[in-house]
Amino acid sequence: MNGQSKDPREEVVKYLKENLPEIWSEGRVDCRQLKAVLGDLADDGQERYGLSWAGKSECFRHIQEPTTMTLKPDREESVDFDNTRNIFIEGDNLQALKVLQKSYYGKIKMIYIDPPYNTGSDSFIYPDRFQETQDEYMQRVGDKDEEGNLTRDGMFRKNSKENGHYHSNWLNMMYPRLFLARNLLRQDGVIFVSIDDNEVFNLRMMMNEIFGEENFVTEFAWRRTDNQPNIGSTARVKEYVICYARNISYLKLNKMKLTERALKEYRYSDNSGSFRRAILIDKTRGRHYYKIKTPRGRILNGPWMIREDEFRKLEVEDGLYWTNGSDEQPYGKIYLRESEGQIPNDFLGIEFGTNQQASVELEELFGKRFFDFPKPISLIKHFTIISTNDEDIILDFFSGSATTAHAVMELNAEDGGNRRCISIQLPELCDEGSEAFKAGYKTIADIGRERIRRAGEKLRGGKSPLPPFAKGGESFQSSDASGGDFGFKAFKLDESNFKIWHGNIHTVEELMEQLEMFVDNVLEGSAQENILYELILKSGLDLNIAVEKREAGGFVYYVLGQSSQEGIVVCLEQGVNEELIDAVSAAKPASFICLDRAFKGNDQLKTNAALQFEREGIDFKVI
Ligand SMILES: C[S@@+](CC[C@H](N)C(=O)[O-])C[C@H]1O[C@@H](n2cnc3c(N)ncnc32)[C@H](O)[C@@H]1O
Repeated sequence: MNGQSKDPREEVVKYLKENLPEIWSEGRVDCRQLKAVLGDLADDGQERYGLSWAGKSECFRHIQEPTTMTLKPDREESVDFDNTRNIFIEGDNLQALKVLQKSYYGKIKMIYIDPPYNTGSDSFIYPDRFQETQDEYMQRVGDKDEEGNLTRDGMFRKNSKENGHYHSNWLNMMYPRLFLARNLLRQDGVIFVSIDDNEVFNLRMMMNEIFGEENFVTEFAWRRTDNQPNIGSTARVKEYVICYARNISYLKLNKMKLTERALKEYRYSDNSGSFRRAILIDKTRGRHYYKIKTPRGRILNGPWMIREDEFRKLEVEDGLYWTNGSDEQPYGKIYLRESEGQIPNDFLGIEFGTNQQASVELEELFGKRFFDFPKPISLIKHFTIISTNDEDIILDFFSGSATTAHAVMELNAEDGGNRRCISIQLPELCDEGSEAFKAGYKTIADIGRERIRRAGEKLRGGKSPLPPFAKGGESFQSSDASGGDFGFKAFKLDESNFKIWHGNIHTVEELMEQLEMFVDNVLEGSAQENILYELILKSGLDLNIAVEKREAGGFVYYVLGQSSQEGIVVCLEQGVNEELIDAVSAAKPASFICLDRAFKGNDQLKTNAALQFEREGIDFKVI
């Protein structure tokens, strides 16, 4: 395990090494050789089509810089931590997306995000000095109040239209996040991004670059309001949801249930059931000409939509519906029982929810409007229906009031699915004068977590709204009788539990100091569970891996995985003894990890343990 996040270049490098060994020279890509391999596909001219902005090249540095941060579990904020598979992460999504790379690379089926639209009045994290180093960035990201919440004075601030880098700031914020998000998608995965007129054009260009133009699926237009403000030259009643596939050749969107309107079309029936009519004769689209005789003896010559042999087959199989009267005409029959539903279309009317409806949905849970402009549950549910199935993982890294988590739980409750949701939300401070702040919600993350608690409780059939701050802890149960998962594991993005080796050492004294520090590399006061989850995350294991706590020789140890035989056993105690070593050996896990300091310098005990584990075929690691 290395303590850093996955290098996003890793897979590309692997691919290039495996497929183009001829372009490598002493561990570096020889660009001239690559150009020679590509021939006329390579273009090094000065002018080309694309999107450019101030700070773009710095985006790649931000993407590539690894982080040593971790996710610390917070049982008090969680609901049924040990059994749920939903996750809520409080923290900056750039760092969170980096720490998730090892565990969730290529595992997410659907991403929905609703980022700041760059209206000129919204705030977000952006660098304004494009040559900023990672240390400087981290210092600004560290702009927190005494409780660790982000302040609005530092890196998280308003991007006004008067700002000289108005569009660049937004693009610099979005580019690295979308780039890292793409890595998390499965090959058949799909991303939906809400946006309005302010940045829709730049977003499309940027996503063309990151996802590839060929992976563009559609631009949904959503009518966001049922009333029309009489302001400006035209009333803005719609926004967009841009959709890209990770790889269009693997994408298979689900069909939607037939709407009430579509169902009304099935108004005809025969012995085989209800059906709707399919046009067979059409002056503009028909391409086939042949003569048929109607039941009353008229001759029709087309133009027909189907070939003559297909028509004759329908005739024999009672597959034709004839209208009566003077314009006697044949139609095909499309039976309701054969209809799989409709493919999704790119216009979403108010039946998919509106801003007003979304505010009411939140108000119903909290009794007050604590969050401006949430998205309606039905809108997110629609994207979840068309793009996911049972067990799929859904990610929202601009989670806000956690509408996505709510929509996923509600959909699971309706169709018996086991989808799980990962939500990421910055601890953005609520305005001190706001209703939310007065009610005790200090940050948007507080509102998001409380929404999931309340929505879960409501879906389990409990009363809602709950009393304020009904935090879960262990007393809450997340599942109902049907086994639905209405809980979540809460995590906070935080510094590593391990001491970080500083590379910039200049003197022998500094080196001695570092070595001294690393005799014991775990930070003083780190809770065992925090270290455990850092190991899980940085070893690339699922945050929902089964964790079983056991005891031997007076020490606690954890079995990760469904059974110890396949899994990893971890002991994070300050000591070990033979009893513990025997118990772990007997469990025969694939590997055993413990702290170096646990041996307290007893080299004999450590050597014996190593030999015993080797005999049993157990991979033994000390950290
Ligand atoms: C438009 S809101 C999302 C609303 C959400 N769809 C809902 O229905 O409630 C965008 C959210 O992203 C959050 N945000 C902005 N920058 C972020 C960052 N760097 N990391 C995580 N969250 C961020 C903001 O705090 C805000 O709550």
